[in-house]
Amino acid sequence: MKIAMIGTGYVGLVSGVCFSDFGHEVVCVDKDPAKIEMLERGDVPIYEPGLHALMEKNVEAGRLSFTLDLEKAMDGAQAVFIAVGTPTRRGDGHADLSYVMAAAEEIARTATDYLVIVTKSTVPVGTNRQVKQVVRKANPSLDFDVASNPEFLREGAAIEDFMKPDRVVIGVHNDRAGEVMNDIYRPLYLRDFPIVTTDLESAEMIKYAANAFLATKITFINEIAALCERVGADVKQVSKGMGMDGRIGNKFLHAGPGYGGSCFPKDTKALARIGQDNAVPMQITEAVIQVNEEIKRRMVDKLLDMCGGSFNGKTVGVLGVTFKPNTDDMRDAPSLTVIPALVGGGAKVKVTDPQGRHEGEALLPGVIWVEDAYKAAQNADVLVIMTEWNEFRALDLKKIARKMATPRLADLRNIYSVRDAKRAGFEAYDSIGRAGFSRVDD
Ligand SMILES: NC(=O)c1ccc[n+]([C@@H]2O[C@H](COP(=O)([O-])OP(=O)(O)OC[C@H]3O[C@@H](n4cnc5c(N)ncnc54)[C@H](O)[C@@H]3O)[C@@H](O)[C@H]2O)c1
Repeated sequence: MKIAMIGTGYVGLVSGVCFSDFGHEVVCVDKDPAKIEMLERGDVPIYEPGLHALMEKNVEAGRLSFTLDLEKAMDGAQAVFIAVGTPTRRGDGHADLSYVMAAAEEIARTATDYLVIVTKSTVPVGTNRQVKQVVRKANPSLDFDVASNPEFLREGAAIEDFMKPDRVVIGVHNDRAGEVMNDIYRPLYLRDFPIVTTDLESAEMIKYAANAFLATKITFINEIAALCERVGADVKQVSKGMGMDGRIGNKFLHAGPGYGGSCFPKDTKALARIGQDNAVPMQITEAVIQVNEEIKRRMVDKLLDMCGGSFNGKTVGVLGVTFKPNTDDMRDAPSLTVIPALVGGGAKVKVTDPQGRHEGEALLPGVIWVEDAYKAAQNADVLVIMTEWNEFRALDLKKIARKMATPRLADLRNIYSVRDAKRAGFEAYDSIGRAGFSRVDD
């Protein structure tokens, strides 16, 4: 089958590459000439493990190509996917649907034969019906259907998630569209991966409900972690004990500096807005949004304590800026709250990240970028672990401590322990939801 994919961001590019690996002919379109130029050269504009090799393989096989020209991409396509951004609309928390609707109009102007217009972007309930109206208005004679196919891939593990999904959700309003969608996903269906077919509205809702639930789980354990610190409990032990309960599960129970990324912040805000608009306030989700902001601010207070009450004149090393490891995505990363507070308070901030520098340079003015953790630690008063990249998991802590002006470690990902820090010669160690120590106070 021929498929056109509109948008070559994290979702569009991964989906396009994986669909071509299923054996479909895929043409990916983007309106950003720099991205298409890179892709045509064989380079990948984002950091995603495994993507480059899979892309290369399918380009060579003649199943995958890239273009700025939607008409060319849609020529003979039986399905066109919309995988453009749906960021938070400035001012009101709604999902900004302008990119989705612009893509729908472009499709309407270009299409000639029957096709299914599939929304892969995360969109509020009712959007697919809106897409249908927009297309019908722009091209009344076009024979088409719409389908909702929300994406659940995680950045950093996107290929694996796409190829071996927990489930694929397909929302359709008739069998004709359902058949095209089933053909697209047949390779997964044949390998017994579950395909959940629903109406359009339920498919749209599943995506928001799933993301809000995961954000709630993370925020719940982060709030428990704050209480653990006060009452002398250890959140790692608490998570383990909770997670072994089959009804709860151990995923998304790792306490940290608050959720970030391209999805949870904007999707929780959008769900809260949908609730308000429909007079069913999403009170739990609203609380989650508020608590997550407080958790990020608590990280700043933690660092302030470690710096003796003021950032002014202090040197702070920061390990990691991306919102999680194995991605270069900086959208709504907790580092964007913490680092500006350090810089604004007068600290000299040295930052390192295996993939985040390219995005981070524009977003974090006033910091000094260094090559690795040891350079970040050099003459620092405090070292902060913001993102749990593998290369920060097995640091030579003795070497780090020796390099620092005052060896103090703020481990916001609970990678190390008081024991590790004491052995390495640190004078202070703090983490999330566990007791720390400080020889400075002794
Ligand atoms: N990033 C994730 O992990 C993830 C996971 C699941 C779902 N989603 C959802 O998928 C959607 C896309 O997310 P993303 O992170 O891939 O976005 P992104 O911002 O990385 O990429 C969007 C791309 O679409 C292109 N684009 C916009 N309008 C276009 C048009 N009219 N024609 C051609 N190209 C156009 C942009 O140039 C950009 O390259 C969002 O709704 C998001 O919520 C994202």
